[in-house]
Formats: sequence, C-alpha cells, structure tokens
Amino acid sequence: MKGKFITVEGIEGTGKSTNIAVLEAMLREKDIDCLRTREPGGSVIAERIRGLLLRNEEEKPADLTELLLIFAARAEHLAKRIKPALAGGRWVLCDRFTDATFAYQGGGRGLSEKSIATLQTLVQGELRPDLTLIFDLDPEIGLDRVSRRGAPDRFEREAIAFHQRVRQHYRDIARREPERCVLIDAAGSPDEVGRRLRGAVIHRLPDLQ
Ligand code: TMP
Repeated sequence: MKGKFITVEGIEGTGKSTNIAVLEAMLREKDIDCLRTREPGGSVIAERIRGLLLRNEEEKPADLTELLLIFAARAEHLAKRIKPALAGGRWVLCDRFTDATFAYQGGGRGLSEKSIATLQTLVQGELRPDLTLIFDLDPEIGLDRVSRRGAPDRFEREAIAFHQRVRQHYRDIARREPERCVLIDAAGSPDEVGRRLRGAVIHRLPDLQ
C-alpha cells in the first residue's frame, strides 16, 4: 500500500488525540509505518509559530496575520516533515490541516474562502489529504470537556458563537467533499466514538480490516 495522508479535524474537545491514537494502533496492527504529527506545528519552526498563535497575550494578531502565520507554519511542516514522509512511502496522520483554516479563519473569523484557497494553492500545490475524519460535536459539550483540561488557549477562549460557526463550516466541508471526508459523531464515550472511527476507516480503507 502506498503511504496515505490522513487528517483529523473537529472543534475543540471532540477527542481528536484519543482517536488519533486509535488510528495509529490500527496502522501498527498492519505493520504500517506512520508519522503522527499536528498543525499548527509538527516541525521546529512550525512549533514556534504555534506558540505565537495559541498564546494569550494582550496584543492579539490581526486576522490576516493569523492566517499568514498558519500557512507559514504549514509550508515549513510540509517541507520538513510531511512531504519527505510521503515521498518515503510512510503514512502521515495529521491532527488538523487546511480544513481547520477554512473552518476557523474562514468560518470563525470570517476571512474570505478565496484568499484561503489562494494560499492553499501557493503552499500545497495539488497536495490534499487522501482521507479526512471530521469529528462532530455540539460546542457546548466540547468546550465543557476542554474546560476540565486547564487554562484555555486563545482559540478555546473564543465565544460559543465562534465555535458554532467553525462546527457548521466543518459540516459543510464534509457535505461538499464526501469522497475525501467522513463526518463522525463525537458524542458519547471514548469507546463508542473509537468504534465509529474504526468502522468509518475500514469502510474507506478496507485493507486495514
Ligand atoms: P489543537 O491542536 O490543540 O486542537 O489547537 C490548535 C488550535 O489552532 C485550534 O484551536 C484550532 C487552531 N487552528 C486554526 O485556527 N487554524 C488552523 O489552520 C489550524 C491548523 C489550527
């Protein structure tokens, strides 16, 4: 099997990390070598940019600055980690990618889809994930889960209406691109969600059964 690029998306508190671990275990069972990574971040410079993006500071980045920082981190991550891994036949499991930019900076902040798409082409060329798993959850539940984890970051502090727009945008992406995306209900226990995830992945990638 050729290396696949799988991304995992969703609003805050959908259990992405737990579910990426489930996915990683599925690959390991089949002796598939994979790179597990995240955005923003995943390489030295991109992780520094992540710090700038998530930190709560008095002076916040302007929306356009935020967008450009995200794509700067992505350019670095692609060049240093993702592309070399895929070129070497490894699978890549990435916690968030460009759908997050359409959902958060587009849906959440209201930046134009056209400018995001322009940057997407500049930074990624034709590269798109082979499969995107979008975990869907009511933001009230997601933010409640997150509030138990400690101090909220700059995005987690956004108003509920922001998270509702992000969720809606993710749902729209899943509807518009059904060949690439699967929407997974993230309500319920980790075991229940993990079972839904396994079912969805095996349906799309039967070799993993
Ligand atoms: P997380 O990795 O802990 O989920 O946090 C990353 C945060 O960054 C999350 O709140 C969403 C935000 N983000 C964007 O706003 N746009 C993006 O393109 C990406 C990758 C993340």
